[in-house]
Amino acid sequence: MSEPLVLGIESSCDETGVGIVRGRTLLTNTVSSSMDEHVRFGGVVPEVASRAHVQAIGPAIAQACEAAEVGLTDIDAVAVTAGPGLSGALMVGVGAAKGLAAALGKPLYGVNHLASHVAVDLVAEDVDGLTTPTIALLVSGGHTEILRIGDVVDDIELLGATIDDAAGEAFDKTARLLGLNYPGGPNISKAALGLLDGTGVPGDRTAVKFPRGLAKKQDLRDPERRYNFSFSGLKTAALREVTKAETLGTDLRVADIAAGFEDAVVDVLVTKTLLAAADTGINYVVLGGGVAANTHLREVLAARCAEAGVTLRVPPLRLCTDNGAMVAALGAELVSRGIGPSDLSFAAVSSLDV
Ligand code: KG4
Ligand code: ZN
Repeated sequence: MSEPLVLGIESSCDETGVGIVRGRTLLTNTVSSSMDEHVRFGGVVPEVASRAHVQAIGPAIAQACEAAEVGLTDIDAVAVTAGPGLSGALMVGVGAAKGLAAALGKPLYGVNHLASHVAVDLVAEDVDGLTTPTIALLVSGGHTEILRIGDVVDDIELLGATIDDAAGEAFDKTARLLGLNYPGGPNISKAALGLLDGTGVPGDRTAVKFPRGLAKKQDLRDPERRYNFSFSGLKTAALREVTKAETLGTDLRVADIAAGFEDAVVDVLVTKTLLAAADTGINYVVLGGGVAANTHLREVLAARCAEAGVTLRVPPLRLCTDNGAMVAALGAELVSRGIGPSDLSFAAVSSLDV
């Protein structure tokens, strides 16, 4: 087959994404998010997300075809996120994809969400393909992983992951504690810059000492913990500060807490990513996931990669957050290499290992 036309569907969390690629060319990337509906709950509510996917999936497919100027019957293959993610949310995308593939008589590819976060680089405009081997740092509200990618289709090794909260989840939970709205990431960043208290004076990153989870010398020596993360201690530390200020009646600068918290998360993410790069001798790092929007993370990672002689690749933000283009990109790669398709009976798997 010449360049396959592949439609990709993503519905693992709160984004309903439909992307269409022709080979390694991105034609369209339609994303609708139910984020607004989760704000008052302070986090993604699975039932609410599933219902929103059911409403959004039909229009998203139609809109993507229109934007790409293709008809559904032109599609050569359908790809869909099979997991990991929220079960009910995944089932909406998988159900829609199966229906579509069956109706069109076209092959269906169930793909791994984490692998597709990396595969999106195949269709990002400013690079010619994906440079491998690479270390990938994936950080979002649902996951936090360091991967070694030899090949995005069949050589992915999970080096480490969070043992409790995902990085974005830590931002969301700590934000709520500080009285900031969901999603917590952008609000913590604004607070850290002093943009939410009207002062414009950035917080002091060193005013409050936040723990660096699993980053003590003995953790780094232990192969079981070297690349793993623990962020749950951070919200406890933030709560301690808030309670202390209330008890003592002292002035609390939310900016200081936000800045210290953000720095602690970023420090551990960057340190462990560069450890993985050094240990594997890989001089290339790719960043993905919604937390890639964090300016402090991008700046510190860029500076420390440069110091270490490592090339850093950050895809455009709209391709870092959950989207259908990444699913289509991985699907097209599978089609081009003659791998698959999936059996139509595959299930949505919430904890799919890479
Ligand atoms: O990838 P994404 O859109 O959805 C999934 O969670 O899969 O990521 C959303 C997460 C939320 O937890 C949000 O707080 C976090 O990404 N996030 C940020 C920033 N923007 C979004 N975290 C830190 N700093 C940001 N600027
Ligand atoms: Zn994701």
